[in-house]
Parts: sequence; structure tokens; C-alpha cells
Amino acid sequence: MLVRLVAILVVMDVSFCTAKEPADTNYDESKVPEYELPELLLDHEGRSVGRAEWEGHRRSEILQSLEDSVYGTTPSKKVNVRYELVGEDRTALAGRATRKQVAALFGESGYRLDILLYVPNRVSGPAPAFLGLNFNANHTVHADVGILKRGTSNERGSFASRWQLETLIERGYALATVHRDQIDPDNYRNDFSDGIHPLFYEDNQVVPESGQWGSIGAWAWGLSRVLDWLEIEASVDASRVAVIGHSRLGKTALWAGAQDRRFAMVVSNNSGCGGAALYRRCYGERIHHMVKPVGYWFCRNHHQYQQREHELPVDQHMLLSLVAPRPLYIASATNDRWADPRGEFLAAKYASPVYELLGEKGLGESEMPLPNVPLQTRIGYHLRLGDHDVTSFDWKHYLAFADRHLNSE
Ligand code: GCU
Repeated sequence: MLVRLVAILVVMDVSFCTAKEPADTNYDESKVPEYELPELLLDHEGRSVGRAEWEGHRRSEILQSLEDSVYGTTPSKKVNVRYELVGEDRTALAGRATRKQVAALFGESGYRLDILLYVPNRVSGPAPAFLGLNFNANHTVHADVGILKRGTSNERGSFASRWQLETLIERGYALATVHRDQIDPDNYRNDFSDGIHPLFYEDNQVVPESGQWGSIGAWAWGLSRVLDWLEIEASVDASRVAVIGHSRLGKTALWAGAQDRRFAMVVSNNSGCGGAALYRRCYGERIHHMVKPVGYWFCRNHHQYQQREHELPVDQHMLLSLVAPRPLYIASATNDRWADPRGEFLAAKYASPVYELLGEKGLGESEMPLPNVPLQTRIGYHLRLGDHDVTSFDWKHYLAFADRHLNSE
């Protein structure tokens, strides 16, 4: 009982009141409105959905609704991509890893993505991998002086703690990463002129239509293009790639995993509003908080749901259900109330019926676990003590989950 009380007080930690949080932010659980989530297993005609109907049409109905009302459509047009090996070092990380750097060059556009890959040397045969976008350029992922410095003036290795590269390598996993700004710059003035969007514009088009992709859609597309390359890269087993992301890039990992079923596992770290958290709880960050600063992450259609979350044709348990039956891990942090940890947990729980329909164990009737006590079935969830971040605690549990689902099956 005492443990539970302490845990509740920790969850209610008030230290996360930063200036960025608007005055109308709700952190009072008793003020969460009553809400009814859209049914996962009733289709648009109101018919109940079994396994055959899920695969037959329900899954694509949900995907389409998420495109229409949240992230926008991703263009299906293919662009020609050439991959150029820029550098390879088989003695990276004191001989424990091979570092490869590859440029993906798109058509004649001059458009380029720099892919950084580390593969453990001790693994015989293709290694399972984590793939995630980074916020601050490839050279911030580790202090390794061999990483090409491009884009930002950030210090080498300045975000190394978020990647735990040495641990990954030791545990037999490869890591692939790309800087999100190379796909679409995330500069708070985004006008869709300097990322990949122009590659897909029709004649005279200068911005995406209201139902077309924003930045999250573009970043997710970029992750799939890196996976295309991993499919031809012999040192990695592309059928065992976990897509991972933190915060806005956690939203992106979920959208990438929902659309591209080649991703064998999906990890969302503190993704919050527009990620794993249920919109209808209206707790912490809400759509109207995002529209002015970062509305470009979504399609413009999404903006009409400001203060009208209950009218959305979807909620985020539906996004998570699209990952089923693949392993899915959702992680929250106690001080990250802005991202609504309980809303993230509930979305994972309410996605469970689709896992169960497809013959896997979901979170079922589980209660939200205590801080630092992971819950792991085919869905993983933990509420880490601490701030909005990716830490060694998070990675410890992602790796245990990956060992169970990617390495042993
Ligand atoms: C802001 C934003 C969040 C986002 C986060 C991040 O806090 O409001 O939605 O997840 O930035 O990406 O760091």
C-alpha cells in the first residue's frame, strides 16, 4: 500500500512545470473528460471484425483514417535511389564493430541522406538491428571521430547517452541512424520547400495539400528508405529490424511501423500527443498546443480537431493496433506528464484486442505498472522514473524485449 502511495506521488511529481507548458494544460486526472474510443473491431459499416476481416479490410480502413485525419498520405511514387559507400572501418569501437557510412542519393535531385551503420563484429551472419532517426546529426550519436560531421555544430557524442551504442554492439545488435533534418528540416518555420516534399510535388505545387503528409510522414518515409538499403546490406538481417524513436521521432517510429510492415518491432519512447497517447483524454499536450509551433508535423486536416478531439475518427490505440501482431514497446517517464504516461499506457492496453485477435498476448486487463517495473507480453510498457529522455534504463528493457522477440524466434 505504502509502495503504491509513494509511486502515485512520484507519478504526480510537479517538477515538470516548464515555461513551454500553456496555462490551459490539464494535469488533473479528475478533469479528464468522459470519452468513448472508436471501436477497433467494428468496421465503417458497423460490422464486427474477425481475423479475416482485419486483414481483408479493417486494417486498411484504420490506416486510411489515420492518413486522412492525422498524418496525411504518403506518396506512393517511387524515386530512384543510388547508394554510395562513403566509408567503412572494420575496426571501429576498439575493434568491436564495423562502421559503415553510406549516402543515399535520390534521382537527379541532389537530395541526399547520410546513413550511419554500426554492426557488431562478433556476430556471425546478419545481425538484428535498431533503426532510428536522430535529432542532432549522426556525429552526436557517439564520440567516434570517424563519423562524418555534417549539418550541425553540435559536439561529437553529445547525445550518446540516448543511443547506448556500445551496449547495443555488445549485445549483438546493429544500429542504423539518419539525421531527421536531412529528410525534412524541423526548424519551426517549416514551409516544405527544403526537405523531400518537393520531390513529390505536382507541377506548380509548393506545399502539401491538406490531406498530404507533413514532417512526421516524411520522416517515416525516410525510415523506410533506410530499411530499403538494409535489405541489400549483407551484414544486417532486414527481417529483424526494430524501428525506434524518442518524442516527435517516437511519433514517427509508430507511424513508420504502422505503414511499413517490414519493420519487425516498433519502439516508442515518450512519444506523447500525436504518438502513443490517447487524444481523447485531453491530458497534457493537446492538438491546439501543437498547431501553432509544430502543426507542420501533421497534415493540415489534423488542425481542425483542435479542442475537438472527440470528433477525430481515430484515436491512438488504433495507430498502435496497426503494429499487431509484431512486438510493440511503449515507454513513458514519470516527470513527462506533458506526454500523458497514462494515456500512452491505455492506448497500448486498448490496442490489445487486435493482438489477441491475431493470436498474440496483449496487455489484456493489466493495470498501469508501478514506476520502473516493466510489463512485457507481445506488447511492452514501462513508466521510467525521471524526465523526458532516453536512458540506459529504457535501452536495458528494449534490448531484453528484442532478445525475446527478435533474437529467439
Ligand atoms: C515538444 C512537443 C512534443 C514533442 C517534443 C519532442 O515537447 O510538444 O509533442 O514530442 O517536443 O519531440 O521533443
